[in-house]
Amino acid sequence: MTTNIAPTPDILVAATANASSMTGVATVAYIIAAALFIMSLSGLGHPKTSRKGNAYGIAGMLIALIATALLLTITGFMIFLAAMIPAAVIGAVLASRVKMTDMPQLVAMLHSFVGAAAVLVGFATLRDHSPLTGSALVIHNIEIYIGVCIGSITFTGSIIAYAKLDGKIGGKPLILPARHLLNIIVLLLTVVLGYMFAQAVGGGDMTKSMWLLGIATAITGLFGIHMVMAIGGADMPVVVSMLNSYSGWAAAAAGFMLSNDLLIITGALVGSSGAILSYIMCKSMNRSFFSVIMGGFGAAEGTTVAIEGEHTEINVDGTVDLIRNAKSIVIVPGYGMAVAQAQHTLSEITKELEAAGTKIHFAIHPIAGRLPGHMNVLLAEANISYDIVLEMDEINDDFPETDLVLVIGANDIVNPSALDDPGSPIAGMPVLEVWKAKDVIVMKRSMASGYAGIGNPLFVKENTKMLFGDAKKNVDAILTAYRTS
Ligand code: TAP
Repeated sequence: MTTNIAPTPDILVAATANASSMTGVATVAYIIAAALFIMSLSGLGHPKTSRKGNAYGIAGMLIALIATALLLTITGFMIFLAAMIPAAVIGAVLASRVKMTDMPQLVAMLHSFVGAAAVLVGFATLRDHSPLTGSALVIHNIEIYIGVCIGSITFTGSIIAYAKLDGKIGGKPLILPARHLLNIIVLLLTVVLGYMFAQAVGGGDMTKSMWLLGIATAITGLFGIHMVMAIGGADMPVVVSMLNSYSGWAAAAAGFMLSNDLLIITGALVGSSGAILSYIMCKSMNRSFFSVIMGGFGAAEGTTVAIEGEHTEINVDGTVDLIRNAKSIVIVPGYGMAVAQAQHTLSEITKELEAAGTKIHFAIHPIAGRLPGHMNVLLAEANISYDIVLEMDEINDDFPETDLVLVIGANDIVNPSALDDPGSPIAGMPVLEVWKAKDVIVMKRSMASGYAGIGNPLFVKENTKMLFGDAKKNVDAILTAYRTS
């Protein structure tokens, strides 16, 4: 025999009051978290304030998590903990182990999680019959459809970006025949399926709507794979920040589905900052956003492309002589410096030279390395003063008055063909005009190409000398020779 115990009105009133006070606390917490996220973005805008920016972001996320937990039932809270604890442990281990040069891959992988989450939230929201009716229900269903489609593109596109950046698949663009037509067909199909989906949900046909949403997920997922596979070499940084933007919009869409204001705000912040970053990077590479998305740019890195002329080699002693005689030196770090981890020795060399009265600066190209801000972080990590680290626009006019430029593990960002050769794949991309200095020493292991997979005429210029070998070994040897000679 079962007994039904109806809750007394007092219990109901108390429970409702408790729930609404929890909602009030959560709303205040969400507002504080949103403010912290905005402060975080503003802090991350400059190396000097970036640590503070990071701290604001962490605090905002902690507050958001606690506030969300407060709104849960006991069962919900248990599920929340069961998902959160292993995820936090895995995230902490991954983030502490990742090398600075492998950060882009990790970022791409994390974007794929946001995409996958948006897809799963979309399906779950659809299954959870909405109490909405009329036009509110139509809008809700459109939110689900758009969120799932963006999420699916973000998910598969980010996985391909991860695989490309990690070298698991080649960096060369995959150019399918009639690929633009293929993309247009996918776009039209997605719109048609969206219309059919809205009709099916409106008519209460859950099975059909689930199927239609599933087909749309598969099609947009294939589109994500195709879009990123078609993008090659030098355009990958823009793709990473573009996927960052997509992951933000996917999160915002999930926020709409779950009626969670903080998720909407956070998603919009990530979406718009990723879009602005993509725009800035396109500008630095002199490429239109549209041509990046169209893909097909760049070849495989590490290939040796023939360039006309003979290069001149130099050894460590010769390099030290030029360094001693120079009154002004500019150091240009690139991806190779990051791989070799030469920044700490460079910091030592900088201190020695400054003490000897040499004017020394670092020149940072906006896309030096493999991640926005990559070089700034590495130099800051080695305690190189922000005051001597200059951006490309700040230093390009100074090269004619510079005695010596040390290009360390950089290639594409100092390639003169960007300015001289209209037929070059990187034609029009602004570069550091190092060849205008009196002497240039390029430190790298061989004559191989960089990320864009193209030859570099800088290496055969009359005032350029090549110091071959690992960047770290070479700068260590330079420091020792400078101190002892
Ligand atoms: P790259 O053009 O890739 O050139 C780096 C050079 O470093 C290579 O040519 C390589 O030559 C050398 N190198 C590698 N390991 C080395 C080591 N241990 N010691 C010494 N040299 C080493 O780099 P960059 O000039 O910094 O230009 C950045 C490129 O990456 C651009 O094409 C950009 O589009 C792309 N990219 C940028 C980003 C962002 S956001 N920054 C993200 C993805 C891609 P050797 O093999 O001969 O040593």
